[in-house]
Amino acid sequence: MRVISSPRKMNKILLEEKMAGKSIGLVPTLGYLHKGHIALIKRARKINDIVAVSIFLNPKQFSAKAFRKYPKAPKQDLNICKAEGVDYVFMPNAGSMYPESFDSSVEVPQLIGKLNGNSIRWHYRAVLTVVAKLFNIIQPNRAYFGKKDPHQLALIKRMVLDLNFPIKIISVPTKRAKDGLALSSRNSLLTPEEREAALVIPKVIKAAEIKVKGGSTDRKAITKTMTKMIDGVSSVKLDFVAVVDADSLDADRFGDDTLIYVSVFVGGKKLTDNRVVNSSRQSRNK
Ligand code: PAF
Repeated sequence: MRVISSPRKMNKILLEEKMAGKSIGLVPTLGYLHKGHIALIKRARKINDIVAVSIFLNPKQFSAKAFRKYPKAPKQDLNICKAEGVDYVFMPNAGSMYPESFDSSVEVPQLIGKLNGNSIRWHYRAVLTVVAKLFNIIQPNRAYFGKKDPHQLALIKRMVLDLNFPIKIISVPTKRAKDGLALSSRNSLLTPEEREAALVIPKVIKAAEIKVKGGSTDRKAITKTMTKMIDGVSSVKLDFVAVVDADSLDADRFGDDTLIYVSVFVGGKKLTDNRVVNSSRQSRNK
């Protein structure tokens, strides 16, 4: 396994691999790898000749405070990558990704404003921009993302389509702890009491899922119930909940799949989870 920090060097090496006819699978991460990331790496390892993992805590997609607090464990991350048979770890520093003259960004103006996106447009713009940079540097044939952030996933798919990136986006179901809490690097920041309180998230999703599967199309009533359940746990602060069409992210459109989405703050840490329920009444993203 090779660890590369220079974007130019990474690009050169992987272009050579591609010229030699090798397929490349990319798993982009912010570091502090957990079982969810391992599931992505394992999927990539199955069919690509080369697996590259990027570990870059992108400062532009966080507030200064959230960036400082984000957990980091580079040595442990490298051990995990090695154990999973990763070929290249791309670990750039912020200076090499964003030199002083850096002035570009990727925008998907309509879709970015869906769900609660308008309040954090800057966040998704920063995610799209760094993902576009990683795609250009690593030139993957396939890129792997978790289904845990369906808004991010929809935006990346739209960007790939609109900007003709020759890359297949593969989404992998969210990994959950036995008690139902979705795995996230941020879970490590929770106190035992906060972690217990966070279990309201899978409960809220389950309650909404039962209603959607039961044929309810009154999305306002469903989100009201969800909000009430969250408000009932004093240490959990509602960010937003949504029940929308999974493709367009529109609340008033009824396609094949319905997305149930929950975003809350527990002790100031943002936690999200979601489930996609299809019209044949089978839940995906289990
Ligand atoms: O979901 C993430 O881990 C990050 O947003 C990503 C895609 C690695 C971009 O920094």
